[in-house]
Amino acid sequence: MSTAHDLVIIGGGPGGYTAALRAAQLGLNVGIIEKEAKMGGTCLRVGCIPSKAMLESSQVYYDAKTTLAAHGVKATGVSLDLPTMLARKEQVVTTLAGGIDGLLKKAKVTRYVGMGAFTGLGSVVVTNGKERTELTAKNVIIATGSKVAHLPTVKPDGDRVGTSTEALAYTEVPGHLVVIGGGYIGLEMSSVWRRLGAKVTVVEYLDRILPGIDLEIANEAHKIFKKQGFEFILGAKVLEAKSEKKQAIVRYEGGQITCDRVLLAVGRAPNTEGLGLETIGLKLEERGRIAIDDHFKTAVPGVYAIGDVVRGPMLAHKAEEEGVACADAIAGKYCHVNYDVIPAVVYTHPEIGTVGQTEEQLKERNIAYNKGKFPFLANGRARTLNDTDGFVKILAAAEGDRVLGVHIIGPRAGDLIAEAAAAMEFGASSEDIFRTCHSHPTLSEAVKEAALAVHKRTLSI
Ligand code: NAI
Repeated sequence: MSTAHDLVIIGGGPGGYTAALRAAQLGLNVGIIEKEAKMGGTCLRVGCIPSKAMLESSQVYYDAKTTLAAHGVKATGVSLDLPTMLARKEQVVTTLAGGIDGLLKKAKVTRYVGMGAFTGLGSVVVTNGKERTELTAKNVIIATGSKVAHLPTVKPDGDRVGTSTEALAYTEVPGHLVVIGGGYIGLEMSSVWRRLGAKVTVVEYLDRILPGIDLEIANEAHKIFKKQGFEFILGAKVLEAKSEKKQAIVRYEGGQITCDRVLLAVGRAPNTEGLGLETIGLKLEERGRIAIDDHFKTAVPGVYAIGDVVRGPMLAHKAEEEGVACADAIAGKYCHVNYDVIPAVVYTHPEIGTVGQTEEQLKERNIAYNKGKFPFLANGRARTLNDTDGFVKILAAAEGDRVLGVHIIGPRAGDLIAEAAAAMEFGASSEDIFRTCHSHPTLSEAVKEAALAVHKRTLSI
């Protein structure tokens, strides 16, 4: 006996559960399969949410120790209660996971706990220990996300060499943490432990940090993080990392470091193993991704894919957009994701928020542009916050002034970038941005001033 659904979704992360909620809203009978007890995927369980909880808590600790004094607040006897910090993080995760369960229940989506795999066209089995549940579905969405990418010579050993999952739960502050990879995960997680007192060394293969981010922004970040006490070894390929006695050793081309913990953060890879794709004849692209068309259809009729298993940035909000659009497509509605306007945020201090094309991309593509920049040093609100590092940079087409890219490093850049994304979604010019009235005194005035700077008419510097 099998249970029939209009749509079965494999994977309960931001892509999968968002698709489920939208499909249910459109009247489809939906089943969602998630192998973990908690819904929410990597993002909620061991990614975006717990890392942000730790970033906020560690910043509070750091501020109490250092920056509060500048505000005339004397905090004495400040000490770290790491078990409480870790427990708060877990509580945030548990509450949000419960929230997703509640939403799915309300939407009458059937939840299956176990590993989902195809057994043929239109049929999926859920395996949980010895229990097997057979499902049939007209449509199946693969939303199985991604897993940590490993280096052939660096295997997390469950001891001193680990991934971001372990780095979210160290039970003591490492004396010396070595991070392999100067990307999003490496910089966010090492920010947590640096603020809590660890010595941090980032070993990065490229001669820059944050590949893919506008170079001027990445260089500014590099400079600021160095001031925060981070050590960077750039242009260094890691060859090996292993636990040895009570320490760990990282060997890279040109040297080696002995440290307390190693965090491997060299990217993520699509999660497509064990899905029974061979039973439906679905082949993977190079690098293990699933090929799709503009409507998320794979080469196999009735099978769709979204999120980290398909092309594009591995970001939770990109997966969510695709989840909604894919459900719309299945229900026969218009669907669209604007891949030119997907913001990205690095939650370091200061934050980095970016959307659209970088200066490097515009040069590579021979697109003529004008550039406007405005520093937070000249922004009143940033001064009151005592948080003046960084700047806003707007890139607009030389012809027509359409905004092509906005890159921000500075206080609350992750929130500020939303204005830029909305402007770009509506095809705004930089003049549209500066003609929009911005509240005073706010950080958003730096965005307006950068737009004015595109036209060489900034007022505040
Ligand atoms: P990443 O691709 O951002 O950075 C990995 C870094 O490792 C690169 O700079 C790369 O050059 C370096 N690397 C590769 N091999 C190396 C070697 N042998 N030795 C030294 N360095 C080496 O990947 P990351 O940080 O692991 O993040 C994975 C994904 O998760 C990203 O694609 C990102 O989209 C997503 N993510 C997003 C976050 C956010 O939105 N705030 C936070 C965390 C992750």
